Amino acid sequence: MIRSRSKPVKWDDLRMEFISKCTADTISNAAQALINGHLVAFPTETVYGLGADATNEKAVSRIYSVKGRPLGHPLIVHISSINKVDQWATDIPDYAIKLAREFWPGPMTLILPRKEIAKDFITGGQNNVGLRVPAQPIALSLLKKFEELGGQGIAAPSANRFGAVSPTTANAVSEELAEYLDSEDLVLDGGQCLVGIESTIIDCTSTLPKILRPGAITEELIESALSLKTDKKIEPNVIRAPGILDSHYAPKAEIFLNKEAEKGDGLIALATIQTPPGVIRLSSPKTLEQFARDLYAAFRSADNQGIKKVSVITPNGEGLGTAIRDRLGKASNR
Ligand code: TXA
Ligand code: MG
Repeated sequence: MIRSRSKPVKWDDLRMEFISKCTADTISNAAQALINGHLVAFPTETVYGLGADATNEKAVSRIYSVKGRPLGHPLIVHISSINKVDQWATDIPDYAIKLAREFWPGPMTLILPRKEIAKDFITGGQNNVGLRVPAQPIALSLLKKFEELGGQGIAAPSANRFGAVSPTTANAVSEELAEYLDSEDLVLDGGQCLVGIESTIIDCTSTLPKILRPGAITEELIESALSLKTDKKIEPNVIRAPGILDSHYAPKAEIFLNKEAEKGDGLIALATIQTPPGVIRLSSPKTLEQFARDLYAAFRSADNQGIKKVSVITPNGEGLGTAIRDRLGKASNR
């Protein structure tokens, strides 16, 4: 069941602890909470993650129940630096090492052959594991502290209910998950996420890298860093990749692409596009970066205002444009 997201957060009813000012102490407490098996939602540069100790099966199983996510979906393991990759992965191709050196910390997840520590409850029973070093300072401090306390990695999907829009602020995390979290779980507020859409996922288990989910680390960036072409063959369902589901990253409002908005509809479009009379402008980004950063907040705003239909004029352009169109395609696919 995906609950209504148009309900405002009732701050007095929150069960989990909401940390609005992250300090070294609060981050230390959060790392300890993870070690103790609790959940910690934390900011990353892409979207907020719902974290658990990636070696603790019970804690990880709570991620699934809090998100309402079907079992068997693999989770990304977050680590503090490239030096930790060897703990989780083996047979790492040279191109993956190059990518990690070039783009970590950053909005990129590498799928690599797993080591023993990456159990089936993390990988969905696959022989590979998704790893990411995030670039957000609070996320990195949390990871470092967690590792100092003996932790190996933090499993974290986006901190939203299954199928819903990823949260890009801590308030959005509360809107999504507050009623499912416990009093010893935590939400760390690190402000708005700078990238705003989820990391690029790259399958690094074959001779050539293959983009499974486009993101801010674009095909162009990857190919120029490696001086080679990525694998563009489409082999559905070989790996349990994101977005196979019909509706993903979707708000309650219906999303229409490149259709004229009518009175009472919402509109998301580049600033150069005018708002027709009676249409509610949800976002007017000037650049692709702003488009990505504000997209999910605009979806949420539509739901919070009770808007039923949102027209999105898709931006052109390669790079981040590809990632934005990917998310819009999924949000509009019902
Ligand atoms: O930006 C991000 O990647 C955010 C932040 C929190 O790091 N995380 C995120 O996680 O988007 P999630 O679980 O919402 O989306 C990750 C997707 C899932 O759809 C999952 O199927 C896929 O990555 N994935 C994870 N591990 C995988 C693996 N070993 N093989 C194939 N796909 C994998
Ligand atoms: Mg997600």
